[in-house]
Amino acid sequence: MEHDITLTVNDTEHEIAVEPRTLLVHTLRDALGYTGANVGCESSLCGACTVTMDGDAVKSCTVLAVQADGTEIETVEGLAEDGDFHPIQEGFRKEHGLQCGYCTPGMMMTARELLEDNPDPDEAEIREAIEGNLCRCTGYQNIVNAVEFAADRMETDAANRDIAADGGTDRTTDTVEDE
Ligand code: FES
Ligand code: FES
Repeated sequence: MEHDITLTVNDTEHEIAVEPRTLLVHTLRDALGYTGANVGCESSLCGACTVTMDGDAVKSCTVLAVQADGTEIETVEGLAEDGDFHPIQEGFRKEHGLQCGYCTPGMMMTARELLEDNPDPDEAEIREAIEGNLCRCTGYQNIVNAVEFAADRMETDAANRDIAADGGTDRTTDTVEDE
């Protein structure tokens, strides 16, 4: 018997009927079209399916859709705003943190939770955060660099917002240089 659930995904509310056994990742991908959550191992090992649920990074292959009823989900599709990359996406692009890209959405969503909780992580903290996300292309160093880039960019953006709120002049825009 199907159950009616409500999922808010990337700020859009969806009401949907799901089977009790349906996994969140399949609901996101197959029913709602958020294909950024990739299916890899389906056993909580690879992290390719990582999304945030009420701000916490979760492996959506190990969450039943019914368990997510009433929660706020963010997928990689929700990171960009008004056509602009999120600093995390910018970091992966600039630091070459992705190659095949299969792991990348999950990595980004793990980084999303990390930087919300700890805006200035050191390398060890980044490596610890992403240890549940496997990548077989980049050797991880570029991913660590990407997260460090994102942390710096987010700090700069926050400083600029503070300056703007005080009516001052934005002087930190170029702190993180383009290539
Ligand atoms: Fe979910 Fe691998 S597909 S952890
Ligand atoms: Fe290929 Fe991570 S970029 S697995």
